This record gives sequence, structure tokens and C-alpha cells, in this order.
Amino acid sequence: MANKAAYGALFALLFLSAIFVTVICIIGSPRDGLAHHESFPFWQRTIVYQVYPRSLGDSDGDGAGDLRGISSKADYLHGLGVGTVWLSPVYPSPMADFGYDIADFVGIDPLFGTMADFEELRAALHDRGLKLMMDFVPNHSSDEHQWFAKSKRREEPYTDYYVWADPKGFNETGQPIPPNNWLSVFRGSAWTWVEERQQFYYHQFLAKQPDLNYRNERVREEMKNVLRFWLDKGVDGFRVDAITHLFEVQDLSQDEPVASHSGTDDPLDYGYLNHTLTLNQPETFTVVKEWRDVLDQYPDKAMIIEVFGEEIEEVMKYYGNDSVPLADFPFNFLLIEHLRNRSDLTGFALKDTIDLWMDNMPEGKWPNWVLGNHDYGRVASRFGTDAVDALNMLVLLLPGTPVTYNGEEIGMVNTFISWEDTQDPQGCRYGPEHYQEFSRDPERTPMQWDNTSFAGFTKGNSTWLPVNENYKEVNVKAQLQAEESHLKIYKELAALRKEEPFVRGHVAYPVVTFEIFSVMRYLEGYESYLLVINTSEGEVEVDLHHHSNVELPPSAVVILRSVTDTSNSTVPGSVVKLSELILVPGEGLLLNLIEEE
Ligand code: BGC
Repeated sequence: MANKAAYGALFALLFLSAIFVTVICIIGSPRDGLAHHESFPFWQRTIVYQVYPRSLGDSDGDGAGDLRGISSKADYLHGLGVGTVWLSPVYPSPMADFGYDIADFVGIDPLFGTMADFEELRAALHDRGLKLMMDFVPNHSSDEHQWFAKSKRREEPYTDYYVWADPKGFNETGQPIPPNNWLSVFRGSAWTWVEERQQFYYHQFLAKQPDLNYRNERVREEMKNVLRFWLDKGVDGFRVDAITHLFEVQDLSQDEPVASHSGTDDPLDYGYLNHTLTLNQPETFTVVKEWRDVLDQYPDKAMIIEVFGEEIEEVMKYYGNDSVPLADFPFNFLLIEHLRNRSDLTGFALKDTIDLWMDNMPEGKWPNWVLGNHDYGRVASRFGTDAVDALNMLVLLLPGTPVTYNGEEIGMVNTFISWEDTQDPQGCRYGPEHYQEFSRDPERTPMQWDNTSFAGFTKGNSTWLPVNENYKEVNVKAQLQAEESHLKIYKELAALRKEEPFVRGHVAYPVVTFEIFSVMRYLEGYESYLLVINTSEGEVEVDLHHHSNVELPPSAVVILRSVTDTSNSTVPGSVVKLSELILVPGEGLLLNLIEEE
């Protein structure tokens, strides 16, 4: 009898497990999102909001943004619902690369204010429960850093702080020939001759950005001290710049091979070569681990790493593994790299792009989603203003940490900048004919706060880059007052993503077609959400039941919709039938699934 009962129980258990496994297989495996974390570190709970300091707010009227200008926006940032601010460089700099050329890693440039202003900003953010991450630029300093001045003079211990090399020879006019063919990311040779030292130095970016020599123990120690300095100042972590360039091979006599499918015939263009000798050298990971160890001496600190344009396997290495943890995450730039413009934006492409990250991410690691930053065109200009809300919905509701570049929450667009006004060295180096293909100025223009002069960004009478002329319509104040706006949607999303199905729920993609993409977030005991996106440029009527790979209820309640949708039947709160859903071009519609009784 007892045996029979035991068999019965076992059978019931197996039967239930089979159902559970089947259900999970249909609607997404436990690997469909995230490891189940007991408690979430801050960088998993927040949106990371990138502030480009020159362009958020100008407190002193000189036309460039500054730290006090950012502090004055602390309430805005808090109200927006982002939990973490990542500050692009504010360190002393000749500004050849707008702060990514640092003359003192532990100071504040007077353009941005003082160390006291920095401390005020940190306090203003912390008082409101926001975290602050700094930009850590380890690969290079400015040529105006005192280390470089001393290195040029071979003053110990600085002689080998940078990558120096003898010429390969001299040409017929007696000019020194660089040691190899390596190119700068910003075009042209990566080597610059120094008369005083009779040697070349290596610079992966501008000549004003000499590469530090990480084979020198002292350099490594100096840069760890930089991290400690800011951690002691109370910052919550770092975004690490241009990590893939940290090391190059030791033998400087080797040339890099010409790339076979580079798409350029300009031998001075960075893309002309295959960077086998100057990118992702194995020593890089040892140094990143050293930084991780420094951060781990402090509680709850984050390290996010910039790895752009690499094969996915290479990017994933920067997560490290359980025994050698590295970054909390490398930025996921796939939505930028794979989806360059609206014609790339299809349901299938979104699914493939999301899968590419999730399927390659090491077990137990945390995803993230980047739509734009200070180096890439505005989302509205790449994909169209009508897709802004849908894309914000997507990245804010997928599992993982979204990264938002300032201004994307109001749908700012690229600003046309004339050759005369062009500032970005990457643009300038390509000349008046081609600067627009390379300049990053269009996405760096001042934040648009209101419809007063200079969009409320400055009280002065000029700005470092022109304000976009659409500021009278596209600005924070107008969007706060409007009944429906990109900004209001963004704020609602930021609040919504704190609900349990988004925090630790499962994810599934019930309907994916050429024109439609959908994401479902669900968790036992909670309401389920379905985001449906029309990726196309035409109106779409879709029967979700017909296409869905999971069973969907007949109807759902509209929670949020893109501002472009003006239909009465999708006003938030309305009930819509999933068999006849109409979406306007680029629309995102967030629905609450109504479970049947
Ligand atoms: C930054 C760029 C900068 C470069 C050199 C990056 O990848 O995002 O803005 O020009 O590093 O520091």
C-alpha cells in the first residue's frame, strides 16, 4: 500500500515536472534572462544615464556646460527615474578630444569648475539616492600631462611611462620613418616623432593622446591610484574607456596586415588595416583584473567597460568568469552596430541582435542595452522620431541595465554643424568634404531645456556647439507640459521597470515577424506585460494569436503607447483585442495581458 502511494506521488511529481518543463520550453527557459539574484547590486537596479558635461547645463554663461550646471539638474535626473549618472570626463584637459585627453587624472578642469563643485555634485546626487560613475580613461593621457613632459626628457622614473620607439630608418630627405604601419583610430600614422628624445611615441588616438605603457609596473600602480583617489572621493564606479587598445605587441617592428574587406581604399583610414597587433592583447585582461581587485576593496562598486566593434566572443571575455571576475558588464553596442538605420530595424533583426548577446553571455552574468552615446548619432536620427518611444520601451523593459545618453529621453535629433563650427577632431581630420561622415558633434549639442534663448542651456550669448533649431518644440519643459510626450513615456517606463516582472521576471518573444517585434515579461503571481513594436514605416494590423508561439489571452489593457498613436481605441486604459491590433509606424504599445477567469 505504502509503495503504491509512493509510486503515485512519484508519478504525480514526474507529471508536474514534465508540464513545468514543457511550459518553460515554450515560453522561455530559465536562461531566458538572468540568474536569480538574491539581492541586486545598484548597477543591476538602475538605468545608467550618461551626462556629457559640456552639454547638460551651463551655470557660468561661458557657453559650455559645467559641474554646477549638472548639479542644478539633480532634481530633473531624480525625477527622470534614472538611478545612476555616468559622467564623461571632467578632468583637466587641453580638450583636443573634449576631455578624453587628460592632463591630470585626479583634478577637475576649470571649464567644469572646482573639486568643491565636484563634491557638491556627488552630494547632490547621493542625497537624492542617485549613484555617480566616473569615466576612467586608462589607455592614454594628454601630451600635456606632466608624466609625458618628463618622459620626453627621459626623466626617471617617467622614461618608459609611454610607448617609445626608434625610427625604422630615415627617408631620402632625412625624415625619420615610423617603426611600423600602425594607424590612429582618428586617421593617419599612430606614431609621432619627438625631436627632443629622437624617438617616436605611439598614440592610438590623436597625437595629443600618447598611449601609456602598461608594461611598466609603475604606470599600472599610478592608474590604480587614480581609481583609489575617486573611490575615496565617494564615487560609485567607473565606465572604462577604449579598453581594447590598452596593449599592443611588444615587438614594434611588425606591420599590421591590410584588411581584406575594409570598405575603404584610404590607406590612412583606421579601417584599412586589420588590427591584430594593437587590439585585445591578452595582457589586457590581467590589468582589468587588477582594477577589479581595487574596486572590490570598496563595497558595491561598478565597472562597465567600453568594447566597441569586436567579435562577440571577444566582447564577452570582458565579463571574466567566476574565478576571474572582470567588468560587471562590457557595453552591449549590438543595437548600434547591427541596426544602423531604419531599414535595418525589423522584428527579425531585433530578435537576432538580442539573442546574439543573451546566447553568448556567460552564465550568471548581467545583460545591458545601449542605444546611443556621445560617439554615435542620435536614436531619432538613425531610426526616425516615430521609433523613439518604442526603442526606449524596448531597452528599459528587457532584462538587464539600460544605458541612456542625455537627451535621448526627449528624442533629440542630430544637429547640422557647418565645417566652420566643427569641433570634433575625428571630423576635422577628414576635411570639409568628408567631416560629416565622421564628426561626433551632431549628437553632442546642448541639452534642450525650454523654448527660451539657447534652449535654456546657458544665460550667456553663445554655446560651444550650436543648439538644434528644433528646440522650441523639442525641449524638456514642453514635454513635461504636454499630455503625451517622449519624456513622459520615459519616466513612466523608468517607474514601471521597478515592478517585479521586470526586475526578476522571465522574458519571451511571442511574435516576431519582419514588421513586428514583441517582448513578454511575466512572473508567477504577477500581471504579465507584452510590448509590441511595429518596426516598419507603415501602419500594421496584426493578429497576434495567429503568429504567437505562446498562448495569449484574447485581450489586453493598454499601459503605454508611442506619442505618434492618436487613435481613441489605444488610449492608455483601453482594452484592445490581440487578434486585431493596429500599430502606427514605429509604434511601441505596452499591454497588460488580461488573464481569463
Ligand atoms: C570615447 C571617445 C574618445 C576615445 C578616445 C572613446 O571610445 O568614447 O569619445 O574619443 O575613447 O579616448
